[in-house]
Amino acid sequence: VTNKIAIAIDGPAAAGKSTVAKKVARYLEYIYIDTGAMYRSLTYKALQKEIDLENENKLFELLKQTTIDLKQGKESQKVFLDGEDVTTDIRTDVVTNNVSVVAKHSSVRKEMVARQQFLAQKRQVVMDGRDIGTHVIPNAEVKIFLIASVEERALRRHKENIDKGYPSELEKLKKEIEKRDQLDSEREAAPLIKADDAIEIDTTSLSIDDVVDRILGVVEKVKGRLTDESI
Ligand code: CDP
Ligand code: CDP
Repeated sequence: VTNKIAIAIDGPAAAGKSTVAKKVARYLEYIYIDTGAMYRSLTYKALQKEIDLENENKLFELLKQTTIDLKQGKESQKVFLDGEDVTTDIRTDVVTNNVSVVAKHSSVRKEMVARQQFLAQKRQVVMDGRDIGTHVIPNAEVKIFLIASVEERALRRHKENIDKGYPSELEKLKKEIEKRDQLDSEREAAPLIKADDAIEIDTTSLSIDDVVDRILGVVEKVKGRLTDESI
């Protein structure tokens, strides 16, 4: 029992969720599940099909005819949409700047949450997103809410772009992040919010390894407590 916990990591854009979640999962030999990649994949497909992203029924119908698989490779994770590798296609600006519109629809979320709960049923998962601690795994043994100032988060994305040789404007990134945070926090269906029992970590001035260590510290404590309870 004690080695089978679920870890939920939520927070706004570029707070470091996926970077940290992957490292925690690798250390614990758990499965990492990137729920944002699922919403991104549906958005990518809808854009390709030129479906009106405000049309909830059409998007829900599209999702029902769509398979999304997250496959763990040795070094990285790959995302397959209807069997096709879309790992890089789902990270473009056009997807990033439209995904929150797709993700606001409650029927779409309900179906996504059901798929995510299926993936998490055996525990031993680190899942990151916006509503993991509040809706997907409300009974997760460990819940983390990562935050950082919007300046720092924009700077992180900016550095990523520069490293990849992509054009990048810091001010534009900041505006896009603020806009997405606002849409995610203000939507009616499962908005981005810290679960009451989540531990908030402000990563603004923390390194990736600092954050990973803090989370592993929480995991050890929780596992210890579960062991004590089962004796
Ligand atoms: O990594 P980044 O912060 O850019 O975003 P992401 O985790 O890939 O998520 C992209 C978008 O999907 C978010 O801005 C949300 O609109 C949506 N999302 C969601 O609504 N619920 C989740 N559990 C995960 C993502
Ligand atoms: O998944 P999310 O959108 O929350 O963020 P991410 O894609 O994991 O992280 C955004 C960027 O911030 C990555 O380039 C990380 O290397 C960097 N990062 C950092 O500089 N300091 C941290 N404490 C965490 C992440």
